[in-house]
Amino acid sequence: MNALDLLKKDHEEVLALFKKADALGERATTSRRDLFEQIDEALTLHSKIEEKLLYPSFKERAKKSEQKDEVLEAYEEHGVAKRLIKELEGLEATDERYKAKLQVLGEAIQHHAGEEEKEMFPMVRELFSSEELNEMGEQIIAMKEKAGAPVPAEARR
Ligand SMILES: [Fe+2]
Ligand SMILES: [Fe+2]
Repeated sequence: MNALDLLKKDHEEVLALFKKADALGERATTSRRDLFEQIDEALTLHSKIEEKLLYPSFKERAKKSEQKDEVLEAYEEHGVAKRLIKELEGLEATDERYKAKLQVLGEAIQHHAGEEEKEMFPMVRELFSSEELNEMGEQIIAMKEKAGAPVPAEARR
């Protein structure tokens, strides 16, 4: 399965979790913590996959300055998300800042995933053949399986 389709699927899944968190009432602190834990797990693996399989090879092939800028910005956005995740990990779900921080993380991820899909992935498609992207997809599936994460049914052959 094409690597970019797999990554898009991850985006959809994690954005759906943020949407669930958004719909929670003020006092649903336990549910909010549970959702954050799922988000944390999903995002941590997703960024690990991108930083291991996609970003370095894209950066290596990037010829135009806007391609290079795109991947450098993506690394910075991962950095921002990781800092927010760390803060949330160290915060009681009953803390008055918890909900706001999770909201800000959600907005950052929505922005980041949007840029990847609208800007970076089309550049990746220009620089990599579909065989290469399918090969990368296999590596993504292997990383997910190794981490014990669910693999989309359509990715199994
Ligand atoms: Fe990313
Ligand atoms: Fe992504």
